Amino acid sequence: MSKPKVFVSRIIPDAGLDRVKEACAADIWQERLPSSYDVLLERVQGVEGILSVLTERIDAKLMDAAGPQLKVISQMAVGYDNIDIAAAKERGIPVGNTPGVLTEATADLAFTLLLAGARRIVEGSNYIREGKWETWEPKTLLGADVTGATLGIIGFGRIGKAFAKRAAGFDMRILAYSPSLTAEDAKQAGAKAVDMETLLRESDFVSIHTPLNAKTRHLMNKERLALMKPTALLINTARGGVVDQKALYEALKNGEIGGAALDVTDPEPLPLDSPLLGLPNVTIVPHIGSATIQTRDRMASMAAANLIAGVRGEPLPNAVG
Ligand code: DGY
Repeated sequence: MSKPKVFVSRIIPDAGLDRVKEACAADIWQERLPSSYDVLLERVQGVEGILSVLTERIDAKLMDAAGPQLKVISQMAVGYDNIDIAAAKERGIPVGNTPGVLTEATADLAFTLLLAGARRIVEGSNYIREGKWETWEPKTLLGADVTGATLGIIGFGRIGKAFAKRAAGFDMRILAYSPSLTAEDAKQAGAKAVDMETLLRESDFVSIHTPLNAKTRHLMNKERLALMKPTALLINTARGGVVDQKALYEALKNGEIGGAALDVTDPEPLPLDSPLLGLPNVTIVPHIGSATIQTRDRMASMAAANLIAGVRGEPLPNAVG
């Protein structure tokens, strides 16, 4: 029996790729940079499965370009805002993702950003490289206390809760907001459920852990940023689109908030002429929340499992929705 034809949009870790190659006739995009949308439209023609990552736009047109035999879209990520889920549903195409396996790595990175922003680590490193370190100084590069500070977590799902666990080790007071969060659920995770306004007004650190969708796009807008303390640090490891980046720049430049530490931006990659890069109180890393060897292996393996189940017409181990 011939193997099902699939398209794999990037070279993923062997832990997943080997499984895909064994079970499927795989066309694998070989370049370091993603293919253009037009090339993607051609490459998916006639495939039964697509294994995608977050750089690919998987919309109705692309699903139709693949053809009616398309049985599954398997995303190697927990987030899937690049995929038109409604269009997939209409066409009866299940979509898989990789929740759970990247929770700890992403929470680790979010906490790394919190500490780096609070203690001005990147600024300090640049200070040395720029030849400015001439002596120990009583008032230079002063940051903010983390221990005992108030942390606000927006989006209290798996990653938000894992982040809270880390914060508990620093004796932080933890406030949490999610639309359907109950006081009991928050309490069990060591946090206090509050409304968004209270969270923004009272927190020294605000960390975002929501998916990006129509409801959360630009959730952190001018008005909400204005509610934050002028000393507060905003951390975002979710999706760049959750923050109105223009409003963020203005808030940072005008001293309305103290700083930002971002793993995600809008767009990605962040153009080198982005004004955010000119601000000393901004730490930015290139969307590396899940970027550990072990985590990416688990993600690749899970994405392969979803893809293979899908092309075989079996239920996906992890289906979206
Ligand atoms: C995700 O999984 O959604 C991350 O952003 C990339 O690992």
